[in-house]
Amino acid sequence: MSQQAKPWGGRFTEATDAFVESFTASVSFDRRLYHHDIEGSIAHASMLAAVGVLTENERDSIVSGLQEIHKEIDEDRFEWRVTLEDVHMNIESRLIELIGDTGKKLHTGRSRNDQVATDIRLYLRDEIDTLINIETELLSALLDLAEKHADTVMPGFTHLQPAQPTTFGHHLLAWFEMLLRDRERLVDCRRRVNILPLGSAALAGTTFPIDREKVASMLGFDGICENSLDGVSDRDFAIEFCGLASLTMVHLSRWSEELVLWSSQQFSFIELPDRFCTGSSIMPQKKNPDVPELVRGKTGRVVGDLTALLMLMKSQPLAYNKDNQEDKEPLFDAVDTLRDCLTAMRGLVPAINPHHERMRDAAAAGFTTATDLADYLVRHDVPFRDAHEIVGRSVGFALSKGVDLALLSLEELKQFAGEQIDADVFDVLTVEGSVKARNHIGGTAPDQVRAAVKRGRSRLRA
Ligand code: ARG
Repeated sequence: MSQQAKPWGGRFTEATDAFVESFTASVSFDRRLYHHDIEGSIAHASMLAAVGVLTENERDSIVSGLQEIHKEIDEDRFEWRVTLEDVHMNIESRLIELIGDTGKKLHTGRSRNDQVATDIRLYLRDEIDTLINIETELLSALLDLAEKHADTVMPGFTHLQPAQPTTFGHHLLAWFEMLLRDRERLVDCRRRVNILPLGSAALAGTTFPIDREKVASMLGFDGICENSLDGVSDRDFAIEFCGLASLTMVHLSRWSEELVLWSSQQFSFIELPDRFCTGSSIMPQKKNPDVPELVRGKTGRVVGDLTALLMLMKSQPLAYNKDNQEDKEPLFDAVDTLRDCLTAMRGLVPAINPHHERMRDAAAAGFTTATDLADYLVRHDVPFRDAHEIVGRSVGFALSKGVDLALLSLEELKQFAGEQIDADVFDVLTVEGSVKARNHIGGTAPDQVRAAVKRGRSRLRA
């Protein structure tokens, strides 16, 4: 292609170096913005006609040309050219090919700088809406599973050591809380994404009598960027998105780590469905939890995307710099990765099948009701620190006998606890008694889990 064919070729006297041409091009990755680029251009052309910069005929011709191009791209009939650098110039050149000189008027009063900023915001807004929907479905699946397992006792851990009995339902509700905050962050980020840069033009605005409010309302934006320099150079919204995406991935990674541990032979707390696992090419007995492992593994790349965008921005003077072309790949990658991982979890979570017996046995082992015994003594007027000491000695004795606390006789317990203790002590030493007793908002008692699920459903709708 000759130099003159480039939309900006007028002042140049030699052709672009071939390497530089491909080095500076972004069309290989920004072509995915085509839908939003065309949507933005149609709104821009309509506004130009409304303020009298274009005639109605010119507008109609531009709009139908752009619609034709959209169809060509949808149907894979569009010829993308690296020589035309990016998605914007590819589409504009094709428009001129299709409708002639009128196509050359589309770029009146705008620049690729405000155009690309608008495209990314439109794209990200749509993606955020999709992500919110997937998260809502996943949250709802967590609530259903938590309700089903409100009574399923499992060990709760600190330091990955068995600590106190809890319920599987309660554990799932902890995941619910994490992801509900993630959804809130998405909704909040959307407010700052959904602001219109178009009208900032190259950096200082335009000399044409544009109607930015009109463009904003045509494109469904909630407001317009107040400052043209900021409008073309602000990528905070993308950084913010990658920040919340990173945190969501960190949450999914923590869940994944638990799923991997729990589905191991050693824990055997849960069974993952075969359709979410893979085998080994050499060890016929293997069933590997690849899906949660991959989710855990993909977390790093999203955090990397965030780091890339932060570094991209840190030394940029105002206003637009070509550096910003580098914002797209990390952003697209963060969006795609988060969407895939949430989709994987949405499929996996409802299919988690806990082994009740095994979880209960594990909850009962390791003196997990020791705190319950201490609390019992406190209710019988023993100061907590003394109760702690008494229970510690009882645990030592049980260890030396190789049995659990609940298997000591009343007489044996009385050796340490004195006469304060009665046969009803055995109620608190069972794992069921232990979870039932933590009966307050935020506690693990099955009734509390059921109540929290109910509240969760209305929080989800809010
Ligand atoms: N492909 C460019 C980007 O992604 C579009 C804006 C180019 N603007 C410019 N002045 N070179 O940022």
